[in-house]
Amino acid sequence: MNRKHNISVITSIVSGSVVVLYDNYGRPLLHLRLSVTQRCNYRCMYCHHEGEIWKPSRELSPMEMRSIVKACMDLGIKKIKLTGGEPLIREDIVEIVETLSSLEPEDLAITTNGYYLEELALPLKKAGLMRINVSLPSLDKKVYETVTGVDGLDKVLRGLKKALDIGLKPVKVNMVILKDINEGEVWDMIKLASQMKFILQLIELEPVDMPSYLYRDLHADLDSIEREISSRGVLVNRRRYMHNRPQYRIGGAVVEIVKPVHNPDFCLHCTRIRVSSDGKLYTCLMDSSNHFDLNKALESNDPVENIKEIIIKANRARKPYFMSRCDIHG
Ligand code: 5AD
Repeated sequence: MNRKHNISVITSIVSGSVVVLYDNYGRPLLHLRLSVTQRCNYRCMYCHHEGEIWKPSRELSPMEMRSIVKACMDLGIKKIKLTGGEPLIREDIVEIVETLSSLEPEDLAITTNGYYLEELALPLKKAGLMRINVSLPSLDKKVYETVTGVDGLDKVLRGLKKALDIGLKPVKVNMVILKDINEGEVWDMIKLASQMKFILQLIELEPVDMPSYLYRDLHADLDSIEREISSRGVLVNRRRYMHNRPQYRIGGAVVEIVKPVHNPDFCLHCTRIRVSSDGKLYTCLMDSSNHFDLNKALESNDPVENIKEIIIKANRARKPYFMSRCDIHG
């Protein structure tokens, strides 16, 4: 990184009409992860709840989300991912997508467990959704149910197929790797990725909102999996503005490896902020206690301008969580 924290306050780089905020570590701010609800119909054993470790006071309305996204877009954040809880259990999820897509962001995506995808994929696409990430921890019905608490594998696979058929492209599948639970299914999942044509993301378990004994039991090291993938496939990309994640092509499949834990390189290439379903802005999944409340700004006469001020302030506070190889955290 050539821009370091001694650069006083680089808040924006303006070139033509493009404004991008940079933080004190030279990291551009390009992505918003907006949680639309904390509610979920699943009880996944690994869930980090997007770092929302508090009980939500309320849920943002579509118009409030519009103000937040408008403020973000004015400041150069043009890629929006809706998360949860489970976003598709919001009764007004189609309205939310319609409202936000009218702002014409560069990217508008949803992360879902896929349970309601079969019926909602088409209405969501018509409302302006561009693409989708589906969590799929296992292809074995029993294991799937153990991990998620729901007997939903067949329904989710139908939803996945529907999303692919109607062209929500690219469809990505998130597989959090769990020791002794689904580690052995990686190659089956790669085969399915190649057959169905989705991008597979193999994700390292993160120790967020989970007791330490559970993390110790479930955490699997992705290094050996990555070694095997790199020896059988080719490294085709490093997604610089997505944590520098490596992407491999292996047979007909594209596989991305997401290794956040104790990985300063991951944090140095983080380009996100997050907003919780009750309107709190925070800059890191690993540290949501340090947040900026948007609720007063949302109630004000000029929510967009007031939210922009908060985003600029929050951007100055952005800091890589894992800072050097020997740090536990920053
Ligand atoms: N560690 C890593 N990834 C997680 N996800 C949820 N909990 C964890 C965790 N503890 C990911 C899953 C899901 C997405 C919303 O977040 O991939 O698809």
